[in-house]
Amino acid sequence: KTQATKSQNQLPLPPGNLGLPVIGETISFLSDPDFATKRQKKYGNIFKTNLFGSPTIMMIGAEANRFIFSGENQNFTIKWPETVAVLLGPASLSMQTGSIHQTRRKLLSQAFQPRALASYTPAMVEITNSYLQKWANLGQLTWYPELRQYTFDVACKLLVGTDTTNDHHFTELFEEWSGGLFTLSIRLPWTKFSKALKCREQLLTKIEQIILQRQKQPSSEQDALGLLLNAKDEDGNSLSIDELKDQILTLLFAGHETLTSALSSFCLLLAQKPEILAAARKEQQQITCTDMLTSEHLKQMTYLDQILKEVLRVIPPVGGGFREVIQSCEFNGYRIPQGWSLLYQIGKTHQDETIYKDAQNFDPERFDPTRAEDKSKPFSYVTFGGGMRECVGKEFAKLEMKIFAALLLRGYEWELVAGQNLDLIMIPTSQPRDGLKVIFGSI
Ligand code: HEM
Repeated sequence: KTQATKSQNQLPLPPGNLGLPVIGETISFLSDPDFATKRQKKYGNIFKTNLFGSPTIMMIGAEANRFIFSGENQNFTIKWPETVAVLLGPASLSMQTGSIHQTRRKLLSQAFQPRALASYTPAMVEITNSYLQKWANLGQLTWYPELRQYTFDVACKLLVGTDTTNDHHFTELFEEWSGGLFTLSIRLPWTKFSKALKCREQLLTKIEQIILQRQKQPSSEQDALGLLLNAKDEDGNSLSIDELKDQILTLLFAGHETLTSALSSFCLLLAQKPEILAAARKEQQQITCTDMLTSEHLKQMTYLDQILKEVLRVIPPVGGGFREVIQSCEFNGYRIPQGWSLLYQIGKTHQDETIYKDAQNFDPERFDPTRAEDKSKPFSYVTFGGGMRECVGKEFAKLEMKIFAALLLRGYEWELVAGQNLDLIMIPTSQPRDGLKVIFGSI
């Protein structure tokens, strides 16, 4: 081992620029959507920078993803920037490590097993139909905030059994809270981080009320909150109220923020690609469904699966993931030093021309079983991350996207309002700058 450490120490660090003291390159990272692209052009697929107060190595591509996911807990561990860590809270699944992380993950994944998902379908269909009807009545709307209300409503009803349909304050709190996620950790009254911290307190109070309510009226629901309430830790004790609150905060956040982004990208991309929209509608017309949409119907929509997968390739809601190096190692001849941060890149992995032909192009056919471009190399499709920290809500997300898309295609049409800014804000999740203004109606 000493021999290996010695030779590792002689290896060069990746190329790149550490930027200013303390701030590093954080400001450009946050404000420049081409941050990674510019540096990839200059330095290649691995380079160093300094983000959120840590020297950081950014790595792009399938091999890098495999390297990071397979080194979890040995060479790397989760490490979100300070603001994300504080706002999520120490007992969030996204922050836990080691054996606690594994037991909690196992517990929560029960809420996303096929049987649980099948039980969510009727409620998802019902909520989706009522929102679609509401939007048709509006005729013209800014869709992104509406989509947020919808995904939040689904998350609250299905993950914690609470109806928040008319509680706009709850979603507003989440919005301001998430505005502080990837910022500099400066606690002055006017910073986004300080405002977000205040929102965290208010969110936790609301969540505590939901938990207490449920404890008073226990139900047999096997939703995420039910599982957490029934769980016992290693010593046979129930989970602490502080842990319950952090876990629910994370689930409600992760369960709606990413999905809002994914749905709005679907609506945007299909509005821009009439041929694909027409083909998607044709598939829907071939599937007869006189009553309620069921899992059986959904299974038949294979072209829709390809479209949704392609939406998440072209505009992945989450840009990448952070890790800390806990044991120095080597990658492609470069030193990866202990104590540094690592950032794997989802969007740039999906732009690799050696894997995806005309990678810039929105082309659902690339996921047709005869082409299956993402199968050419492991970890070339990483919308949901990978390895032991892969998204725990992945199947829930796919189900909700599919139900939303199918019902939308079957009964409604939409058109982008001219003159709006469709550029994407990337952080914390990708979303159109002007919030996606559309004219909406039933067919
Ligand atoms: C983790 C993406 C939906 C809950 C992750 C990660 C990614 C991701 C990339 C891994 C981050 C890392 O490597 O550190 C997405 C996308 C979604 C989505 C693109 C929607 C299209 C959801 C939903 C839920 C959820 C619906 C819950 C209901 C979580 C949790 C983690 C996670 C709790 C942390 C897992 C862990 O650290 O073990 N997600 N997610 N996500 N996701 Fe999702």
